[in-house]
Amino acid sequence: MIHQLQHPLVKDLVNRLRSNTTDAVAFQSLIAELSRLLAYDALYELPTTSKTIDTWRGEASYHFIEQDKLVLIPILRAGLPMLTGLTTLFSQSPNGFLAMRRDEITHQAKTYYDRIPDCVDKTVVILDPMVATGGSLNDAITLIKHKQPKNIISLNIIGSIKGLKTIEDQHPDVEIYIAQIDEELDGNMFIQPGLGDAGDRAFNTS
Ligand code: PRP
Repeated sequence: MIHQLQHPLVKDLVNRLRSNTTDAVAFQSLIAELSRLLAYDALYELPTTSKTIDTWRGEASYHFIEQDKLVLIPILRAGLPMLTGLTTLFSQSPNGFLAMRRDEITHQAKTYYDRIPDCVDKTVVILDPMVATGGSLNDAITLIKHKQPKNIISLNIIGSIKGLKTIEDQHPDVEIYIAQIDEELDGNMFIQPGLGDAGDRAFNTS
């Protein structure tokens, strides 16, 4: 199911990403902030367990998230600033890495590196700012499903209607939390109006 965040702050941050005056450092920082806002909504039902801690009044039990049951997996490169945003909240969670690159002619995604930790019965959170054709996310979900997670949540900043429909059709069990849905894909399979190539914007390449 697709959940698009409606908060005005989310819209504002996304539209700052579209500006050409947003340099790489600001771009990464906006992506990190948006990732935390997406996580806030997406992880609403995450279970907490009671843990005894030392407090100023002595030992007491309080509820905390079981961070080791959450696996964060960015799709490189552009997913990296999203991981930076989330590790400030989930410093104990294991991180996996999936590197994918879309061929510029065929627009097909190719996986060139993967290092996924144990996901059995865990909640996997995939991080990728862009869903254009949906090919990269589709392949990432298929690969991660082989690792038998309890569930998969995808956090994305901007997506096309077509790409998101592809994911919904292929993986109806995956919950997608997204900041912005733009209408179109152009002939080069770029989201329009979009924000350009997120990897290039974040890392000063072209
Ligand atoms: C971009 C983006 C997604 C993918 C989306 O990555 O970050 O991973 O394309 O396109 P799709 O939905 O059509 O598959 P890119 O291949 O440009 O690599 P990068 O992150 O290294 O820039």
